Amino acid sequence: MVRRAYISASSHWVPEKVLTNFDLEKLVDTTDEWIRTRTGIEERRILGAGKATSDMAAEAVKALCKQRGIDPKEIDVIVVATVTPDMFFPSTANLVQEKVGAKNAWSFDVAAACSGFLFGLNIGAQFVQAGTHNKVVVVGADKMTSITNYRDRNTCVLFGDAAGAVLLEPSEDDDIGLLDFMLHSDGSGAEYLMLKGGGSLNPASLETIANDWHFIYQDGKSVFKFAVTKMAEVAVNILERNNYSGKDIKMLIPHQANLRIIDGTVKRLGIDYDKVMININKYGNTTAATIPLALSEAYQQGKLDKGDLVLFATFGGGFTWGSGLVRWGLDNPVKK
Ligand code: UT7
Repeated sequence: MVRRAYISASSHWVPEKVLTNFDLEKLVDTTDEWIRTRTGIEERRILGAGKATSDMAAEAVKALCKQRGIDPKEIDVIVVATVTPDMFFPSTANLVQEKVGAKNAWSFDVAAACSGFLFGLNIGAQFVQAGTHNKVVVVGADKMTSITNYRDRNTCVLFGDAAGAVLLEPSEDDDIGLLDFMLHSDGSGAEYLMLKGGGSLNPASLETIANDWHFIYQDGKSVFKFAVTKMAEVAVNILERNNYSGKDIKMLIPHQANLRIIDGTVKRLGIDYDKVMININKYGNTTAATIPLALSEAYQQGKLDKGDLVLFATFGGGFTWGSGLVRWGLDNPVKK
């Protein structure tokens, strides 16, 4: 029998402060109508100065432990997926470990942009499957506003701040848990979506600041073309590999970058919209946090029952993309 990992708790945390499309109309030459029709976003959350990605991640992990009824000292590993670490080093996961008091956990970050949570989930699952660890926390967290240029209408309307987390434990039922992953990278896409400054190639300087290289650069059209094809393809491929089709899944939980990209995946899968978890309207693109945030909301709103087949799909900077298939293992908290 395979020792399978399952999601034994699912939580999220978002800042209270809301930035609406109407607020953005006052900052750049844009309109609520353009943002809604081109992206599906209505508002996003903003963390503000003095707080960082690790603060949001720590809140999500505290909520996770509370939900599962465990002491943070029981956690064995913490994996944090992020492109907005508090600092280059130490890792954000280490700062989270300290903030939640997970004294017995070792911890590290994963950098795979919007696909970071799925990459981290696959890594985390393998610690459980290998039999070496029993409680693995995987977090997707990003303070995107810390790298957003509020003078650039092409990007500033898209992003927000959030954190989502799951706890992975060994499943007692072989049918329940993380069933499969398909993950991909294509470094030739690096040039279309990046943060150019501050790394070893272009260390911070007056020039990098003058060139806005410490903010997200995105060639939206090029990224869109890849995203709309690849996210749909990888969602269909994982179902086929496991002898399922769109009708077998209870819920698609896609990366929330653009409603039109999600549309492409929904159409390829041939599923109805009531099977798709969408919250991009409330939060925008929160990069590594979108999937665990949407999962946590779906779970807490009572949209998932034990035994449901859940499909994750993502596309992001790198390029990176992938899918994950889960047989849900928690009772519905609303029906309980
Ligand atoms: O999560 C990581 C992966 N990222 C993605 O998946 C994002 C993929 N890309 C996208 O979602 C879309 O490309 C965007 C939402 C970023 C942009 O939408 P688009 O339909 O591709 O617009 P565009 O970049 O082709 O721009 C169309 C027009 C341009 O004006 P002109 O040149 O036609 O006169 C832009 O300057 O819309 C203009 N524009 C805006 N107008 C009002 C761009 N941003 C804005 C804005 N408000 N905020």
